[in-house]
Amino acid sequence: MKKNHYKVKKIIGGEFELNIDSLNFDSNIDKYISKEEGTWTTSGRQAFCLILNQLKSIGVKQIFLPSFLCNSILIPVLRSGLKFEFYKVHHDLSSDINPSKGSAILIIHYFGWFNPLASDLRKQSESFYLIEDATHIFLNSDYQLNSDRYYTFVSLRKHAGTIMGGWLNQSIKLPESEKKVKRIALESLAARFLKNIYISDKNQNIDELFEKEYLNIFEYCEGFINEDKSSALIPNVAKYIIDSIDWHFIVRKRRENWLLLDELLDSKFKKINNRLDNGIVPLGYVIKTDNRTLIKKKLAKNKIYAPIHWPIPTLLDEKLFSCSLELYDKILTIPIDQRYNHREIKYIAKNLLELH
Ligand SMILES: Cc1ncc(COP(=O)(O)O)c(C=O)c1O
Repeated sequence: MKKNHYKVKKIIGGEFELNIDSLNFDSNIDKYISKEEGTWTTSGRQAFCLILNQLKSIGVKQIFLPSFLCNSILIPVLRSGLKFEFYKVHHDLSSDINPSKGSAILIIHYFGWFNPLASDLRKQSESFYLIEDATHIFLNSDYQLNSDRYYTFVSLRKHAGTIMGGWLNQSIKLPESEKKVKRIALESLAARFLKNIYISDKNQNIDELFEKEYLNIFEYCEGFINEDKSSALIPNVAKYIIDSIDWHFIVRKRRENWLLLDELLDSKFKKINNRLDNGIVPLGYVIKTDNRTLIKKKLAKNKIYAPIHWPIPTLLDEKLFSCSLELYDKILTIPIDQRYNHREIKYIAKNLLELH
């Protein structure tokens, strides 16, 4: 066993652990996601898939997708059999789109900031079907999930250890999830508790075998969700966890951590969004750098895991969409979520500044 000498959490980033002491069966998710109008699903992809099925059933044949997106979003599109075409998203996240009448358009609100394209498209929503991926933005104070002018869906797993969870703003009758899905939910829950036990150890002992144990379960569960073609309600156990998480705390802490890191980095790194206006809840602190590989590697050496949003999807033609390449190649999301206090944020800043 090796010793890590910093008195901060010994792992920063990665899959969300769950601390039983932070759970409380006194839900405030209803303040963000309406109880009445909508449907809970096992994943964001399933929620998106249900929207695509609805659109197909009313004769939609084609969907326009942003050229900057997560590969996993393509899974439901491919399964739906809809014709798809990408539209341009530029390095500053602005977009060019000229949708044809009667088609569907997906837009993504990236990293917690409202995508201004939505304001334009909402005004023209009689000519096409607008779908908003609100995964990164649904906690923002002024984002409206319920609307009859656009479809919305979210994935909850990006913000907390919710095991599973997706939602769409349409009421659909779904069957209960299968036994296998319920079992996966329990395994994912166990892995999150295990990770929490591991990182809560005050002696900061590093035990790679212990780490592997929960990482393998996470990988197995993720693989299952990727392959799952069913359309079913979220398992109760996952919904209970969602109901027990303190979402107000998440909102407050993410903002506080983003602002602190921003102050400590003192403009030494370019970032993708410069201002954190009131009401915005950031997914992470997203920097843009020519040295991404090096920075990611060095942070990982000190057990700070910064994800890449996103690897370039294999189905995207890089020549036609070179406008998005800078995003795929240069951005890195530094974790600032609710698991971390000032101490960890200062540790992250110190590590980043040493690399500047
Ligand atoms: C912005 C965004 N929306 C939706 C999804 C899909 O969510 P899920 O993994 O719950 O299917 C992802 C996956 O990474 C994502 O990044």
